[in-house]
Amino acid sequence: MQIIKVKDSVVGGKKGFEVFKQALANGAKVFGLATGSTPETTYTELRNSDLDFSQCVSLNLDEYVGLQPDNPQSYYRFMHEHLFDAKPFKHNYLPNGMAPDIVAETARYEELLSENPIDLQLLGIGRNGHIGFNEPGSPFDGKTHKVKLTQSTIDANSRFFEHEEDVPRYAISMGIGSILSAKQILMEAYGEKKADAVKAMVEGPITPDCPASALQKHPNVIVIVDEAAASKLN
Ligand code: GLP
Repeated sequence: MQIIKVKDSVVGGKKGFEVFKQALANGAKVFGLATGSTPETTYTELRNSDLDFSQCVSLNLDEYVGLQPDNPQSYYRFMHEHLFDAKPFKHNYLPNGMAPDIVAETARYEELLSENPIDLQLLGIGRNGHIGFNEPGSPFDGKTHKVKLTQSTIDANSRFFEHEEDVPRYAISMGIGSILSAKQILMEAYGEKKADAVKAMVEGPITPDCPASALQKHPNVIVIVDEAAASKLN
């Protein structure tokens, strides 16, 4: 893992942008994308740049089950607002959380991933070390699947919803195995609430107790952290 320590998420976004730019220059065509507050500064840099993704494909990590695409909290909507409306791709794929058959949808998505192997996967990390919606205990060889969210993730994500009850209880997420298939991984983490998860990811044992620790097994990972998120690293 290559660790890049930055002052704050604004500088982190600029570094993240550089990683995307380099990947494109190296011929990357398929980008795995993430939601949450963490990647926002990278998306701002990408939006404001002249990088051309029109011949590229994106696949998002995850989506809530049961939210319509136009719901303000859907990841579909998040991605359109933060990136896709300003930066056109050839195609943007997200799991369809409204699919009538969620299991069939997870198989369809896994098929899309095998047809479009990811060159660069962007990730954030949950406070409990989750990546995508792979909660602690998720198998390292997991594929795209339906997830029951833990209370800790529901609590963390409730800040975006009016009432805690409005937070969906289920999501579709790429598995850890699907994530590890990416050629390169860019993880960003900001703020002291991520410090324990960052320490476990980088310095802890490789264990499903911390899903992000699986990244230690991947040969090409860049981690961008601010001082607060890096504060517990040795
Ligand atoms: C969510 C998403 C993750 C994200 C994480 C952290 O649960 N499914 O992909 O990395 O939470 O979110 P944030 O960046 O807002 O801290």
